[in-house]
Amino acid sequence: MGMSVTTSIATEDEAERILKLQYLCYQSEAELYGDWAIEPLTQTLDSLRTELKERHVLVARLGDEVVGSVRGWVDSDGVGRIGRLCVHPRMQRHGLGTRLVRGMEQALASGDSPVQAYRLFTGHRSLGNLRLYQRLGYRQTEVEEVSGSLSFIGMEKQVEHLAASA
Ligand SMILES: CC(C)(COP(=O)(O)OP(=O)(O)OC[C@H]1O[C@@H](n2cnc3c(N)ncnc32)[C@H](O)[C@@H]1OP(=O)(O)O)[C@@H](O)C(=O)NCCC(=O)NCCS
Repeated sequence: MGMSVTTSIATEDEAERILKLQYLCYQSEAELYGDWAIEPLTQTLDSLRTELKERHVLVARLGDEVVGSVRGWVDSDGVGRIGRLCVHPRMQRHGLGTRLVRGMEQALASGDSPVQAYRLFTGHRSLGNLRLYQRLGYRQTEVEEVSGSLSFIGMEKQVEHLAASA
């Protein structure tokens, strides 16, 4: 029987492995936009180390290997922001991306500050990503033109609070 993938909070010593995975995964996005200077491909190790200290970072592991990751934080408006979702190309389309987003939603909802909504974004040509987020309940809320060849599609989902019994 094969090993199973586990998801949990990233440790600080995993920064390099996460960055390597990120560089690998975002090649397909770079190709899609003809732009290899996109943020996920130019992020430095120091910047990622800071994120590990200040934000929520989840990783998916297969044995010792990091095969997926996602980051999240709560902004000053109480919105849970989710980003940098990536899954190793050989592990894609088996539900791991979905699992990581759901795991991050839970992590943000159970933090100290109350979360009203979750927000994430993707590029306008990333139709697979848009489908994935729609299936997870996100709806398009904004379009921001970054350049002639790239617009960010902002998507949002309200947090479902269980109604308190009257
Ligand atoms: C986005 C990503 C994390 C999804 O991970 P995953 O483990 O494949 O996700 P899941 O298996 O949970 O969901 C797969 C769904 O994602 C969507 N999808 C994402 N990328 C896709 C692609 N290149 N082609 C087709 N569908 C894609 C589809 O809706 C797919 O569902 P389907 O298989 O029923 O068609 C992964 O494709 C990745 O690392 N991409 C590169 C980095 C990136 O674009 N990150 C998101 C930035 S906003």
